[in-house]
Parts: sequence; C-alpha cells; structure tokens
Amino acid sequence: MKRTIRQVLHALRAWWQYLAAPCRRAALRSRTGLRVHLGCGGDKLPGFVNIDYRPASAADVVMDLNRPRFARGSVAFAFSNAFFEHLYRDSRMPHLQAMREAIEPTGVICYIGIPYFRNIARQYVDRGPGTAGPLFDLFNVYRYTHGNPEQAPTWWIGQLHKSLFDEEELSSLLNEAGLGSHVMFAYAHPDDTNPVSVTMGFYATRARASEAALRKDCLAFLDPFDNNRIVLKSLTWLTVG
Ligand SMILES: C[S@@+](CC[C@H](N)C(=O)[O-])C[C@H]1O[C@@H](n2cnc3c(N)ncnc32)[C@H](O)[C@@H]1O
Repeated sequence: MKRTIRQVLHALRAWWQYLAAPCRRAALRSRTGLRVHLGCGGDKLPGFVNIDYRPASAADVVMDLNRPRFARGSVAFAFSNAFFEHLYRDSRMPHLQAMREAIEPTGVICYIGIPYFRNIARQYVDRGPGTAGPLFDLFNVYRYTHGNPEQAPTWWIGQLHKSLFDEEELSSLLNEAGLGSHVMFAYAHPDDTNPVSVTMGFYATRARASEAALRKDCLAFLDPFDNNRIVLKSLTWLTVG
C-alpha cells in the first residue's frame, strides 16, 4: 500500500515537472549570474539550478541538454558530474557551443566524471585493480564504455554512454567550441573498490587565462567535492602533445 502511494506521488511529481517545464525554462531565461548543475539526476547541489532532461528527484528544471536553451551570457558557472558522455556524439559540439554562448565573459564550464578511455583500456590490458571488484575486467570496462544502462530500465537511453574520451578528443572539442582556455585532469572516484584514475574532467573559461591560474581556480572549486565526488590527491593534470 505504502509502495503504491509512493509510486502515485512519484508519477504526479513527474507530471507536474513536465507541465511546469516550459514556464521554468522561460523563467530561467530572464535570470543572470546563473550557476547551473547539468544532468543532476538525484544529486541536488545547493546554490545551483539543478537540471536534467527527465523529472529526476533533484531537478529544478527539465531541459534536454543535447540543445541547451539558456539566454546568452546568463550563466556564471556550469558544472556537471557523469553527464557529458550521455550526450549524443553529434550533440557534443552544439552543446559546448551553446554553453559557450550561455556563459558570461568571465564564465566557467567545469565537467567531471567523464570516462577516461586511455586509462580504462590500460587498466583492462594490464589486468589492473578494478573500480567495481578486485579486477579491472570486462564488466568494469562496460560500466565506462556503455554506462551499464540496464541499471535504469525506464530511461536506459539517457543512461547509455554515447562517447568515449581522452585528452586529445576533449581538448579538440573544447578548442573547436571556441572556449578561451582549458585544463584537463584524471582522477579516482572515492566510492570505487580501488582508487584508479579512469575518470577525467575539465575546467574551461570563455576568456583566455593562464594554465597556472586555471589550475589554481579549478582546485579551489573542486576542494569541497574532495572525498565525495573526487579523490583530490589522485588528481593528475592531462596535457596534449
Ligand atoms: C550517471 S547520471 C549522473 C547524475 C548525477 N550528476 C550524479 O552524479 O549522480 C547521468 C544523468 O544525466 C542525465 N542526462 C542524460 N542525457 C541528458 C540530456 N540529454 N539532457 C539532460 N540530462 C541528461 C540523466 O538523466 C542522468 O540523470
């Protein structure tokens, strides 16, 4: 009985989220200085507008981020965790270009939790320690390459990973999208069986900035996430070429 009531309340909430979505998106377009959390799922970040394409439990606004719809220059900071790899491959560039247009001249885009294929492949070939279980076996690989979408039977397409990344791929996407500067990093996740650096992230600015300044600002931003979303002591900077 309790379960049925919960299911009905959940369905009503989802309907309300869908009905309210156009008004909420319109309201968002009249605001400036936004801090947005993209692909939030159930992870509500205080101080951010939490956004997902489905009426997830943490979502303040429902928006398909294959094509973000923010007003030009309205976003001060865009953050995401375990999101970018869920976009369609041919939506990655339009997404980044739209986010570049959306951020203020001093704006920042920081995405973390992106599967880092170079180290994923290396861990598998070297039979290294796993992030789910003792050995980095094919199931470990599958979680990163495909996102293990069976865990989300009602929205598996959203959970499916549609891209793989390494430093060259990410860097060329960011440059082509017209971001002024960026730094990239690899790191381990605190919930994993073994602290293996198979996840990557980037911190990019619309304006040009020195690498030293970006690294410093990036670490300051990530510090509150230490040991909850990221093991900061495992972080290594990634460069191309
Ligand atoms: C792996 S979950 C991560 C959730 C959360 N960021 C976290 O770290 O717990 C990926 C999230 O991205 C969302 N997502 C996938 N495709 C999306 C899209 N096109 N637009 C917005 N959100 C999307 C999914 O609904 C899901 O909530």
